[in-house]
Amino acid sequence: MRVTASRIQSATAGHEIPPFGGMTPGPRTCVAEERERLDGLRFRRIGVRRLGTTLGAEIEGVHLGKLDEETFAEVHRAWLEFKVVFFRDQKIEAREQLEFAKRFGELEEHPFLDAKADHEEVVRFEKGPELSGFENLWHSDVSWREVPALGSVLRAVEVPQIGGDTLFSDMITAYAGLDDEIRERIEGLFAVHDFTHSFGRVLDAETLAERKKQYPAVLHPVVRTHPETGRKILYVNPIFVSHLDGVDAKENAWLLDLLYRQATVPEYQVRFTWQPGSVAFWDNRSVQHYAVSDYSPARRVMERVAIIGDRPS
Ligand code: SIN
Repeated sequence: MRVTASRIQSATAGHEIPPFGGMTPGPRTCVAEERERLDGLRFRRIGVRRLGTTLGAEIEGVHLGKLDEETFAEVHRAWLEFKVVFFRDQKIEAREQLEFAKRFGELEEHPFLDAKADHEEVVRFEKGPELSGFENLWHSDVSWREVPALGSVLRAVEVPQIGGDTLFSDMITAYAGLDDEIRERIEGLFAVHDFTHSFGRVLDAETLAERKKQYPAVLHPVVRTHPETGRKILYVNPIFVSHLDGVDAKENAWLLDLLYRQATVPEYQVRFTWQPGSVAFWDNRSVQHYAVSDYSPARRVMERVAIIGDRPS
């Protein structure tokens, strides 16, 4: 029997990721629907250049230090819709980055990562010959907190000549792309998020015990609802989730593996190449990110400000 386009179509009709002789035609309907939805958006005050199919847009004609109310409202809307937005050539310092982030809410102080001198709310990622990047696992920032970050504003200070990109993956479209059966299985499930397997690994026993009291493991729904858009989001990530609550070990392993793999599907991703002065602002509820660690021993210096969000529900 020959594999023809019509055979593939009839064998795969109604399935997002069908088993078909080991081939997966890839997620189709959910990507097309989200792309078309985004195609219909219009903005008056800002230029929008789409970078990814279902997420990611470069916002043009904007200086983050000087945003009037109307322009700010459009940036806010673009951020919610495109899930991560980028700005080029921003001649701003940490002070303006902080001011911009504060317009979205109260800012977070990170208990484990180094802060910039005199700016407790600015996390500084300084990589080079001594320390290479280790943020190269898919994650959503501080999901181990009872109230994880709403969003993060990341500014490039110094970038390698080549490499050091950041990838973002759309967890709204990833949720829509799951089989009905899987969606039913994970509805109402909770995942345990815990910092001990990541940041906890470099702490001495005494500090770890102290920090565990301060930041006990938390339960968050595997499927959360976006508080501003009402959309459903797949909310598990391999750095901070230790297991699914109330699920036996075997199912825990295969189900988590399947859910984690969704972030790695290229159709859900956008990749951003940095220049000095580039800024990325992601909706930490809707996307996961992955900082590619391919530039060692070159230097890469980034500064991040995170906004406190809401308890996932
Ligand atoms: C992060 O994981 O928040 C850092 C991302 C990056 O450095 O690109």
